[in-house]
Amino acid sequence: MENILIVDDDEGLVHFLDRFFAKQGYGVHVCNSGQAALEALANEQFDLILLDYKMPGLNGLDTLREVRRSQIKTPVIIMTAYGTTDTAIETMKLGAYDYLLKPFDREELQRIAADALEVNRLMKEVVSFPGHICRPSTPPKGIVKIVGNHRRMQEVYKLIGQVAGKNVTILIMGESGTGKELVARAIYHHSHRKDKPFLAINCAAIPETLLESELFGYERGAFTGAERTHIGKFERCQDGTMFFDEIGDMPLSTQAKVLRVLQYGEFERLGGKENIKVNVRTIAATNKNLEKEVEQGRFREDLYWRLKVISIQLPPLRERLEDIPPLVEYFVSRFSEEYQTPIRYVADAAMQKLKSHSWPGNVRELENCIRRAVLLSLGDVILEEYLKLESDQQDLPNGSQLMANIDRKLDELIPDILHLSGEKTHANVIDMVEKTLIAKVLKRCGYNQVKAARMLGISRNTLRHRIKKFQFNVPPDFPKNAKTPETE
Ligand SMILES: Nc1ncnc2c1ncn2[C@@H]1O[C@H](COP(=O)(O)OP(=O)(O)OP(=O)(O)O)[C@@H](O)[C@H]1O
Ligand SMILES: [Mg+2]
Repeated sequence: MENILIVDDDEGLVHFLDRFFAKQGYGVHVCNSGQAALEALANEQFDLILLDYKMPGLNGLDTLREVRRSQIKTPVIIMTAYGTTDTAIETMKLGAYDYLLKPFDREELQRIAADALEVNRLMKEVVSFPGHICRPSTPPKGIVKIVGNHRRMQEVYKLIGQVAGKNVTILIMGESGTGKELVARAIYHHSHRKDKPFLAINCAAIPETLLESELFGYERGAFTGAERTHIGKFERCQDGTMFFDEIGDMPLSTQAKVLRVLQYGEFERLGGKENIKVNVRTIAATNKNLEKEVEQGRFREDLYWRLKVISIQLPPLRERLEDIPPLVEYFVSRFSEEYQTPIRYVADAAMQKLKSHSWPGNVRELENCIRRAVLLSLGDVILEEYLKLESDQQDLPNGSQLMANIDRKLDELIPDILHLSGEKTHANVIDMVEKTLIAKVLKRCGYNQVKAARMLGISRNTLRHRIKKFQFNVPPDFPKNAKTPETE
C-alpha cells in the first residue's frame, strides 16, 4: 500500500484529503504542522507528501527545505491559496514536485497526485542487474531485477556499469518489450543523480501540442486555457535524469528545442521570455531504426549524433532463448508472491513450449504469459495448458481472437481492478474502459472531435460530455489545425 502524508493546519481540508485518499486505498497520515511532519518523516516512509505553504511555526517552504536536507526524495506537492502562484513556483525550484492552488478540484488533485506517485515509484523502485550491488540512500521498497546471462546481456550490464556514473547521454535501442525502460532506470539508480528526480516522458503517447507544454511548461495566458503557469518536466528535473521514451516519435519542431537543451542547457517556457537554465542528464529509448528515420527526414541528424554517443542495443528474446528458464523462474516467484499463490514450478513440457516460442512481444510477452499462468494454475505447478501463447490464437476467427485477447488482458488486470474499485466494480471498469477508448480514438483522429465521434459511433455532444467528464486535455486549437491520419 502506498502512503501519503498530508500536512496542513486547516482541519477541514485535512479531513477532506484524508477521506479522499483513504477511499482509494492509500494509507494516509495527517499532521497539522511542519514540525509534526518532520517527526512523522523520521519514523515512517511515505510515497507522497502534500504540504501546505502557509502554516504557523515551520511553514511549507522551511519544511520542504528540511525534507530535502534529510535526503528524502519523496515527491512533495505544495498546496497554496490562489494568487500566490509565484511563491509556489519558487518552491518548485527548491525541489517541490508540483503545486496545487486552493481551492482545488478533485480531478486536478487526482491527476497531480497520480503523476507524483508514478514518479515516486520510478525513483524508489531500484533496478538491479547481475554483477552490481546497488546501495540506495534509502532502503528500497522493492527491487526489480534485470534477468538474463546471455553473452549479449552480459555486454549490456558491462556497458551500464561503465557509463552509468558518467554524465553522458545514452540511447537505448531494441524491439518492444526487450527491457529498454528497465535499463534506463538501472542507469539512473547507478548514477550520481540517483537522489535527484527521474522523469519519464513517452513521446509517442502525447499529441504534438501537449508534448511541448509537458516538456517546457508554459506561462499563464500563453494560450486559451492556460489558466496558471505550468512548470514543465525539464524544470522539475533540475540536476536529475530525463527519460525520453519512444524518442523516434518526437516531432521535428520539438526535436530542435530539445537539442538546444542538450547542447546549451537552456529553453523558454511556452509564451515566456525568460531564458531558463537546466542541468539534466538525458537517456532516450526507441524501437525505431533512427538512422532510417534520419534518412527519411523524420529525425534530425544532429540530434541523432548527439544521442548516439553511447548506445545500448538490447537483443530480442528469440536471440537469447537460454535466458528463458531464469526469466521464468524470476516471474514465477514474483507473481506467486504478489498474488499469494502456491505456484513454485513449471512442468517440463510447459518449459519446452516456452523455449520453442518465437516471442514477438519479447520479455513483456513472457512476463504476461507467466502472470496469467500463475493466476490460473491450481496446485504448485504450471502445466502446459495454462500457457497461452500468441501462436495458439492464430487460427481463431477475428472476433474470437479479439475476445481471447480481452480475456487474457482481464486476467492480468482483475486482481488490481478488484483491489482498487471497491464496491462499484462494474461502474468503475466501464468508466475506465470508456475513458481509455475515447483517449485512444481522439489521439488517432488527431483530436478532431467530429472524426472521433464518427469513429466511436456517438454524437458530437456525447463526446463533448465525455471529454469534460474525463478531464481530457484536448488541445484548444482543434479541430482547425488538426492533422489526421487521413489528411496527412
Ligand atoms: N531482462 C529482464 N528481466 C526482467 N524483466 C524484464 C527484462 N526485460 C524486460 N522485463 C520486463 O518486461 C516488461 C517490459 O520491459 P520494458 O518496459 O523495459 O520494455 P521496453 O523495451 O521499454 O518496451 P516498449 O518498447 O514496449 O516500451 C517490464 O515489465 C519489465 O519489467
Ligand atoms: Mg518502454
